Order: sequence, then structure tokens, then C-alpha cells
Amino acid sequence: MKITYFGHACFQVEINGTKILFDPFITPNELAKDIVVESINPDYILVSHGHEDHVADVERIAKQSGATVVSNFEITTWFNQKGIEKTHPMNHGGSWNFPFGKVKYVNAIHSSTLPDGSNGGNPGGFVIETKEGNFYYAGDTALTMDMKLIPLFTELDFAILPIGDNFTMGIEEAVMAANFISCDKIIGMHYDTFGYIEIDHEKAKEKFHHNDSELILLEIGQTTEI
Ligand code: NI
Ligand code: MN
Repeated sequence: MKITYFGHACFQVEINGTKILFDPFITPNELAKDIVVESINPDYILVSHGHEDHVADVERIAKQSGATVVSNFEITTWFNQKGIEKTHPMNHGGSWNFPFGKVKYVNAIHSSTLPDGSNGGNPGGFVIETKEGNFYYAGDTALTMDMKLIPLFTELDFAILPIGDNFTMGIEEAVMAANFISCDKIIGMHYDTFGYIEIDHEKAKEKFHHNDSELILLEIGQTTEI
């Protein structure tokens, strides 16, 4: 799988030629100003929850690419009203077999109001099983015991976890989350974008290292292969 970081909580994961984009927040993100949004052309856009810093560029990228938007029912309905016809609604605990693999919408402890005040349902994350490997995109969440359910049904190759603290769990809880999900390869997200979530990269990596796990912090625009 090829993983590209577009800043904040936005990643594109390419699975056997299918591009899946998560939580695009690029044009309002000063740190991601070198990313050319017009060139992002996913097949699917997965949205974890309704906050602006996760949905800002969903509409434009869905319209330019024709991608299918996958999220909870309230969020896909909101995008339907914005003229995006290709959506797939889900809710917590449900799985669906897409052509690229199986997607399960799982719990996140957070909130989910949409930018215009509409109800964004309850926030979630995604567990994705594919022929190339399995991963967990946590969305914005606190550490939660529900994470312990994930390794009961999926052996993860890597996980994308929030680490910035204040709005989500911080480094210490993310290290515990890595243990909860039985995964030793973690890609960090939701850090440095705003003053409240700036982190010390080396200290963060060190904390994971002490836990015999690896924290990968990608540069914005960087692609890695797992
Ligand atoms: Ni949020
Ligand atoms: Mn957020």
C-alpha cells in the first residue's frame, strides 16, 4: 500500500490501484499550501466525522474526481444535499465489502457537528481489510476501550492515530492505543496544524520506541510504502 500525507488528518492510501482519501482539509491548512488540490483524484473519500478540519475539501475533490463519499448516514446525506450523488452511508459496527476491500465503521470518542451546524451523526474511524494488508484510520478520538475490539477481528499492519492532544488523545494515550489494537507501526496525525496541537517530534517517536513500537511522522506531500 502506498500512503501519501496531505497534512493534518488527510491521507491517501493506494490499494492495488484504487485511491482512498481520508478527511481532506488542505486548502485552509497553511502547512499544506504546496499541495495541489486539483491534482488529487481519489476513487473514494472516507470521512470520519463532520468537523471542518476533516470535511473542508470533500465537496470540491468529490466533484472534480467523481469519487464516492463514504461516511456515517448523517454526513453522506449532507453531501447528497450539496449535489454529491455517489455516497455510501454506514453506521457504527457495520461493514461493507467494497471492490478494494472490507470497510468497518468503528467508534470514536469525539463530536461531529458539521460546519453549518447540521447534525454530523456520531464520529467514527475505519478498519480496512484488503488483499494487500489491513489498517485502522482512527479519526479524531480519545483513547477508548473499544479499540480492544479491533484485534479480535482484524490483524493490523499499520494504524493512523491522532497524537496531537487537546482535541484528541495525546502521545501517551496513543502509545496505549497501539497496545490496545496490537499494532506496532503507527502513523501519526492531527498534530502541529494549530497552536493547541503542536508536538515535539523526537520526544513523540522516543515514547513509541520505548514501547517497542514505531511512530512514523510523514512530511506533508511525502509518500511511503507499507
Ligand atoms: Ni474533530
Ligand atoms: Mn479534528
